[in-house]
Amino acid sequence: MTFAVVALPGDGVGVEVTAAAVAVLRAVAGTAGIDLVTEERLIGGRAIEETGGPLPDDTLSACRTADAVLLGAVGGPRWDHLSGGQRCEAGLLGLRAGLGVFANLRPVRPHPRLVGLTALRPGAVAGVDLVVVRELTGGAYFARPKRRDALRAVDTIVYTRDEVERVARVAFSLASQRRGRLTSVDKANVLATSELWRETVSSIALEFPAVTLEHALVDSFAMRLVQRPRDIDVVVTENLFGDILSDEAGVLVGSLGLLPSASLGAGGPGLYEPVHGSAPEIAGMDCANPYGAILSVALMLRHSLQRPDLGAAVEAAVDACIDDGVLTADLGGTTGTAAVGEAVVAALAAGARVTAEVGS
Ligand code: NAD
Ligand code: IPM
Ligand code: MN
Repeated sequence: MTFAVVALPGDGVGVEVTAAAVAVLRAVAGTAGIDLVTEERLIGGRAIEETGGPLPDDTLSACRTADAVLLGAVGGPRWDHLSGGQRCEAGLLGLRAGLGVFANLRPVRPHPRLVGLTALRPGAVAGVDLVVVRELTGGAYFARPKRRDALRAVDTIVYTRDEVERVARVAFSLASQRRGRLTSVDKANVLATSELWRETVSSIALEFPAVTLEHALVDSFAMRLVQRPRDIDVVVTENLFGDILSDEAGVLVGSLGLLPSASLGAGGPGLYEPVHGSAPEIAGMDCANPYGAILSVALMLRHSLQRPDLGAAVEAAVDACIDDGVLTADLGGTTGTAAVGEAVVAALAAGARVTAEVGS
């Protein structure tokens, strides 16, 4: 059986972190005897340069027929003059919608060695283990009408009951496999869509009696996320709030460059990408942190290859490297992006040897 992965490096540091992550994926496949087939396609700014649009048809069709997609990042100052559907970011949104990946899982688990690096007190972040489940194909990002002229601009938020139900089920199910606590974040004191969100999430709670549900308003929750993050288990929220809160969660781990994500739909290929963007100011310098991209590969192995053991091996290799001080500049280290990838590959090989010795 082959495992077919489309790599979409995109723009800026996306190119460098994807190369490191693909190297790790190849190494895992090699040791586990998986017949990995990878192909690279264009998205974002490079796609605009070469094809005239941010999401070429052949990119979307290759992704649709793959088992999984690994994306770096899109966007950069060179394309910032473009607007709406011509932008790099529209390519990413088109890909998410085209793959129907409505549930975006963003796990946040600070490494013990790094808790002193965050902007918060180490005591506040040590032991944090939470997952943001962000609705990814609805809300303000996709709803119409959306238009602008020189004097007026319109965005719209739409959610249907079905859209909320399906992402809520993913979040409840995840919470039931973890500490059994779900926080649904909305702005139900103002937004009609949030009223529907809250009612719908409450109705799905009846299917998951073992999960304790609480509702929170997004403004005060944004404060709780940095004030008492250890009390949070699973968070489910709409597209725009999830975007903002997950970057805020980057503070808890010490760098945005560490956060991975998995975007899943109802069957079909999963989309795996680090939470960060193309970081144009450090692009091409071999100093971007690739751990978020590498940990996205771990999520791919868990969710698309159904091999949690291999996902755990990648996570353990990353933990071992961080323990050993293999750190990029954002974490106060001096290791380059490619060298971090090589260190993770070496740690995987060392871990595989230990496992083989224990097993023999
Ligand atoms: P950004 O995430 O690119 O950068 C925010 C900050 O984090 C910067 O200080 C950057 O240097 C740092 N950072 C990000 N990734 C890092 C890494 N791997 N290692 C070390 N430091 C890292 O956000 P931004 O600057 O607001 O956006 C830049 C561009 O990226 C924009 O065009 C935006 O639309 C795009 N973007 C794309 C994605 C995506 O493709 N998934 C996500 C977010 C932003
Ligand atoms: C993310 C990014 C994207 C988003 C942008 C680039 C469209 O910020 O993946 O978090 O807002 O979803
Ligand atoms: Mn974002």
